[in-house]
Amino acid sequence: MEFINARGTPIPALGFGTYELTGTACRKAVTAALETGYRHIDTAQIYNNESDVGAGLAESGVKRGDIFLTTKVWMDRVNDGPLQKSVDESLKHLKTDYVDLLLLHWPVPEVPLAEQIKALREVHSAGKARLIGVSNYTVAMLRDVIEEFGAPIVTNQVEYHPFLSQKAILDFLRGNGMFLTAYSPLARGAVRDNSLLNEIGKRYGKTPGQVTLRWLIQQGSVAAIPKAGSPAHIKNNFEIFDFSLSPYEMEKIHALARPDGRLINPGWSPHWDRAA
Ligand SMILES: NC(=O)c1ccc[n+]([C@@H]2O[C@H](COP(=O)([O-])OP(=O)(O)OC[C@H]3O[C@@H](n4cnc5c(N)ncnc54)[C@H](OP(=O)(O)O)[C@@H]3O)[C@@H](O)[C@H]2O)c1
Repeated sequence: MEFINARGTPIPALGFGTYELTGTACRKAVTAALETGYRHIDTAQIYNNESDVGAGLAESGVKRGDIFLTTKVWMDRVNDGPLQKSVDESLKHLKTDYVDLLLLHWPVPEVPLAEQIKALREVHSAGKARLIGVSNYTVAMLRDVIEEFGAPIVTNQVEYHPFLSQKAILDFLRGNGMFLTAYSPLARGAVRDNSLLNEIGKRYGKTPGQVTLRWLIQQGSVAAIPKAGSPAHIKNNFEIFDFSLSPYEMEKIHALARPDGRLINPGWSPHWDRAA
């Protein structure tokens, strides 16, 4: 495993995403991921699986202190008061006293940012979230969070894979001592059909998905959280620490980015930074 240093906390650069996993399938996938060696698990209130993730963590027998656990506050709970209450509920479902990282899941412009940040910081100060961050924020929004409110956020979780450039956000995060968490890192499975990723994979005996995850993590200051339901996929995605891409290959993969590469774009999305 490779680690990212976030204000002194080592974070496993490869995590396990759980969106769309619920019930027994989720519990088993989380257990399988932990058995495989993953120590970073990503969930969210809106995934409706925090209890199942909690059950998987408990069943695995892995010590809580060895796991980096992230959850996210949904958009209808970001007000001062409801946010803190919702985190208590998340902790109950997850069967733990704290999460390692708590994120605001999406920007909610209708609620003053100052109020959201105040609530987030309160949970942080209470020790219920060891680290705090945001998700789906633009550079301008990140700047507000840091410069206006001085909030010690460590990451912005955004869609990032070879078909979508996140240069502007990544440059900003790096410049401010933070890291990027790449969601939908496999472009929801679409990387498997790309000829360049297949061609590079053949050189190393790796799949296009493994090449993609390697490319993300090898950039530094980037964590990736692929989701996989099957034990074979869970294992496959973990086998990315025994090879390295050349600088030329890294650049070739960067060049796959295209203006219409974004997959996740719901109606409540912010005005995204222009893809470089
Ligand atoms: N913050 C946000 O707004 C946000 C938004 C989206 C996602 N996320 C987080 O990011 C995580 C990952 O993103 P995602 O679930 O959207 O997409 P993803 O990880 O890019 O792709 C998941 C898809 O890829 C398939 N897959 C996984 N490993 C594979 C392998 N080795 N070979 C072939 N196919 C493979 C999975 O199939 P199987 O399941 O059948 O294995 C699934 O269909 C989510 O689970 C969630 O935790 C956050």
